[in-house]
Formats: sequence, C-alpha cells, structure tokens
Amino acid sequence: MADQERYMITSALPYANGPIHLGHLAGAYLPGDIFARYCRLKQRDVVYICGSDEHGVPIMLRARAEGISPQEVVDRYHAMIKESFEKVGMSFDYYGRTSSPVHHQTSRDFFEHLAEKDIFVRKTDKQLYDPEAGMFLADRFVRGTCPKCGYEDAYGDQCERCGTSLSPADLINPRSAITNARPVEKETTHWYLPLADFQPKLEAWINAHPEWRPNVLGQIQSWFRDGLKDRAVTRDLPWGVALPEAVARAAGVDASGKVLYVWFDAPIGYISATREWAAQQGDPDLWKRYWQDPQSKLVHFIGKDNIVFHCLIFPAMLMAHGDYVLPLNVPSNEFLNLEGNKFSTSRNYAVWLNEYLEKFDPDSLRYTLASNMPETRDADFSWNDFQARHNNELADILGNFVNRTFTFISKYYDGAVPARGALDALDQEMIEQIARAAVEVGEQLDAFRFKEATRRFMDLARFANKYFNDQEPWKTRKSAPEKCATTLNLCAQAARSLAVLMSPFLPFGARKLWQMLQLSGTPEAATWEGIADLQLPAGHRLGKLEILYSKIDDAVIAEEVQRLKQALSGANGAAEAAEVEHISIDEFKKIQLKTARVIAAEAIPKAKKLLKLQIELGTEKRQLVAGLAEHYRPEDLVGKTVIVVANLQPAVIRGVESQGMLLAVEDGGKLIVITPEQPAASGKPVA
Ligand code: MF3
Ligand code: ZN
Repeated sequence: MADQERYMITSALPYANGPIHLGHLAGAYLPGDIFARYCRLKQRDVVYICGSDEHGVPIMLRARAEGISPQEVVDRYHAMIKESFEKVGMSFDYYGRTSSPVHHQTSRDFFEHLAEKDIFVRKTDKQLYDPEAGMFLADRFVRGTCPKCGYEDAYGDQCERCGTSLSPADLINPRSAITNARPVEKETTHWYLPLADFQPKLEAWINAHPEWRPNVLGQIQSWFRDGLKDRAVTRDLPWGVALPEAVARAAGVDASGKVLYVWFDAPIGYISATREWAAQQGDPDLWKRYWQDPQSKLVHFIGKDNIVFHCLIFPAMLMAHGDYVLPLNVPSNEFLNLEGNKFSTSRNYAVWLNEYLEKFDPDSLRYTLASNMPETRDADFSWNDFQARHNNELADILGNFVNRTFTFISKYYDGAVPARGALDALDQEMIEQIARAAVEVGEQLDAFRFKEATRRFMDLARFANKYFNDQEPWKTRKSAPEKCATTLNLCAQAARSLAVLMSPFLPFGARKLWQMLQLSGTPEAATWEGIADLQLPAGHRLGKLEILYSKIDDAVIAEEVQRLKQALSGANGAAEAAEVEHISIDEFKKIQLKTARVIAAEAIPKAKKLLKLQIELGTEKRQLVAGLAEHYRPEDLVGKTVIVVANLQPAVIRGVESQGMLLAVEDGGKLIVITPEQPAASGKPVA
C-alpha cells in the first residue's frame, strides 16, 4: 500500500433537520461519490467520509416547534438521510454524526489545543438576550429588518432575501424568534478566531492552487479583498459541543451554557468520523494516515454556500492546529434549480430524495444530475429532461447495446461468447475506443469535470452501438461467420468494459450488467486499468438477459410536473398565498377548537399514511384518523396534547370512523403536530 496515491475525500455534512433534496445531492454528494468510486477502481488508498451535522440553531428551532428535544430531531433525520444515501448508492466508508461522543471529544481537544497555542482572542461585549426565554439569541434565534435591503424577516446571521451575511446586532427592530420579545443587551464573553492574522498564509496557500475552479477562486478572492475579520467560534446556547472547562477556567469565565459554534465543530466532524472508521477497522490510529501525513490528498466536495468555511475558516483552523494537511482541492458546485425556479423547502417546492427513491431507479437520477451538474454555473433539473436522459440514453443507447449483444449471443451462439478471429479496421477501432474512453473519463474525473466525464463514458456506449450497426452481424452470420463471431466477441468485451467504466456513475446498472455477464464478484472490485483489457475468454457463458433500464412513461412524469406546479401556485401552502380571503369573527367562532390528549395511537393496516388515534376531550373519548403515519411513530404521539376541531362532521376514512380533525402544520414536506406551548388540560376551548 505504501506507494499508492492516498485520498481523504469528504462530502459536506448535511444538517439533520430535514430530508435531502436533489439540489443537495447534485451539489456535494453525487460528485464526491463518483470520485471516490473512481479512485477505488484506480486502486488508490481512499477513505470517503460523510455524516450528519447535528448542531446549530435551526435544529433547536425545529425541536421547539415540535415540542421535542434537539436529540430527537437529529435522531429522526440522521436515520432518514442515512437511509436515502444508502439507497442512492453513496459509497461512504463511514457515515458519522456530530452528536457522537468521539466527535464531542475530538472537537473539544481541537479547541483546547488552539487555546493552549494562544490562537484565539477573547472579547466581552453586549449581545442580544431574550428576557422572556432567559437566553442569548445567537444567529437564527433573532429576526429583524435587514439593514441592506429592508427585508423584515432577515435572520441574525443572514438575510435570505439579499444574501448579506449579518450579525444579530446589525438587525433593525430585532425580535426573538422564540418569544417574539424585544431583546435586551447583555454582556457575554466569546472566543474569536482572528482570521485576519491568517490571511497572508491563506493567500499564499490559495495562490499555489490556480487549478481550482474559477468560481471557487473568485469567491475566495472577494473575501480576501474585503479583508478577513475575526470570527466568533463560541455561542451561548444549550445545544452543541460544550466549551472545554479548562479553557473557560483559564480565562476566568463561567463555561456553563457555552458551546462551540456549529461551524467550528462541524468540519471537525470529518476528522471524528474518520477516527470512528479507524476504530472500526481495528486500528485506532489509522485516521492519522489520511489527515496528518503530508502524502494524503484531502478533497472536500461542497455546495457554493459552504466555500468560505471550507476554503478559509477550516483551513485556518487546520493551519493553527499545525498537525494537519490542507485541502488539495475543494470542488464546489453552484446551485441546482428545479423546473426553472429555486428550490424552496418551506413551500415544498423540491424533489425529496426519499420520495424520489420510492418511485424511480437511483441510477436515472445519478445519470441526469451527473450529465447536468452545476459545476461552473447554476443548472436546472426538469422532469422532462430526466425522462429524456433515462429513455434516450440509459435505455436506448446503453441498454439497447447490451440488449442486442446478449440477444444475439444467446440466439446464435447458445449464450457463450464466440472466439475472435482476424481483426478488421473497425474492430481495431472498437478496441482502441475502449482503451481511450478509460483514459479520457479518468482524466476528466481527476480534473473534477463530472459532466464531461459522464458524456465521455456514454460516448463509448454510443460508439459500441454504432459498431454493432456497422458490422451488420445479422448479415455476416451467414456470409462471414468468423467476422460475425469477432464482432460479437468484441461487443461482449465492450459490455464488460462498460460495466466497470459506468460503475462510478451507475453503480446499480453496473452490478446488474456484471451479473448478466456471469462474472464473479462485483464491478467495484475490478480495476480501471483493466477496462482496456479484453477479459472475457471465448466460450464464457453469459447469464440471463434482463432489461437494464426500462422506459419511463409520460404519465408518470406529468404527475411529478403537476405536483411541482401546485406547490408553486401555493395549492399546498395556502398560508403563504399573498391574497387572503377574510372571514368574520363569527365565522371563525363556528369552528370549535379544543385541546385533546392522545391516549392511544396505532397504524391502520393497508393505509400507509394513516394513524388511528384515541383521544380524550375533557371527560369525553373520541377516535380520530390522521394522516401522520409517515411523520410520527404511534408511540411518539401518545401523551401529547393536541388541538382538534371538535365539531367537524364525522367521516369514515378507509373504513375507520373519524370524529374530528387534529391540527398540524406542514413544513418542507413534513407534518408537525401543533401542541400548546405549556401543559394544558384536555377539552379546553382554544380562543
Ligand atoms: N451542514 C452544513 C450545510 O448543510 C455543511 C457542514 S459541512 C462541515 O450547509 F464541514 F461543516 F461539516
Ligand atoms: Zn437583505
């Protein structure tokens, strides 16, 4: 292993506060996975790491909104995201999470090491504090008017309308996102990373990497031009990695209630996950080989909103620490749009990965996104393009080539690969094309040009199809049997080569093809160099032909397009519609809203989305049917106090009577049950 090239590959740790959508997948995950799979075929020494980013204010806000703990929020989404990633073929060597004890320890040690080296500066100043909630309002806990564009709902760390990054004190008319109270100012001490001190070293390092993507370098240069500023790396929050006691004590500060800033601990998550992986390998120090040995090539795959953290702040942390390698490259993608509009999780204008995977093949998505990756500018995902890529390329080019090769061999050679005879010019070219495709796809991947690599690999399938046509084996079968045998031999060889070549992009189809070829192991265990070899011996028996990719119907696509149109027009999010139809207070009073306690909950057989709930409304007991099964486990609802419409006309849903309706809010495709902010008895009217 000593002289192998060594790679430490990461994909940005997703926040565990919602499912993954296609924009995320195209940005940081799919390219990382394609690259990692390619590196393994090149027999490089690779560790590919990802995991859930489980700290930060948005997770706390969601927990508050749902009346559950932050840990419960991250447990739910960590499991959900991890599962979607597995199903879409992400080949992480380890998928960690930042709530793990190893991560907390690793982050604290890192912070302590920097504190011992006297890297941080400490500042005591006034920060916004919510007197009603009794807590400091970091980042997204404050909202207010953006000083740049006047948007009234800007966050304490960023204005979502104009994109300006802000600090809570910049907001005009700040208000607490928790209680809506007007915050007061209160003194507190925080640790800052003095980025300005690191600017000369960072500039020298970045200048040594002119090969990075121009959009990444452009963003970095603009940060340099503005001059890097001190960044606070601690927060007053109850959720996160606790500030090390020893550090606080040495500074004469009370550590309680202080945690590391999420963007300080999250990238360290790559390191902690690698440590957990190493422990799992039975060699706890193995992680150092990837993070601390100068031979190791560190590559971060991210989306463009993460550039400053991966190209400036984390590298400054690594430099400050002193024991670590710096990234070799940070291939950052631009954004993906959806049918010409921005993804919007709040309007459910998105394609969620878990939902996609219930209906379609992961390869079709991987292929569409890789073919149209937002590498140097924003790109657009459309369902029609998806269908066209799948039907016209995966099915009609790749699938068709495999299909006709298998059919012919099974029909005329009894399913065994015929022997090659003398080669004509076209045969030579077929052989050459296979070798050249391996080299060129490899070159593109090593340059992180995924779109071009994808096109180039499909070109080989295109060429193979043309080769089949031009050699006309259906004619030579009688007129020149040896030539026909040679043609089919080379087609079978090309199919094997394609299985390996396609495997970074289309791992599922590649495995299927491998099985059809009756080869042992998996294409992942083959080598990139071996793509060029014609490895199938004459007489090798092929397996049963299967359809590699079957076509996707228009109707299925129309349904998806329709759903997105509805989300855009607000049919799913009436609350967000601009025009409001007013009702009178008397009309409102007709609706009897009451508190109720859930005393039992169970699934309804064959109704995947529904739960049957028994509720207590004061002294009365009732039964409800609610569409919550995909959002809550029955046991998690029991004991909750909810709000119900008590005078709704009873109805029978899937054969079960429902005597009322429970209120829930829809956010990002998720239903969140509404509960009173404080304990309340059941049967009480909501006024
Ligand atoms: N959770 C962040 C996001 O989704 C990414 C964190 S990347 C890490 O934007 F480096 F901090 F882990
Ligand atoms: Zn603004």
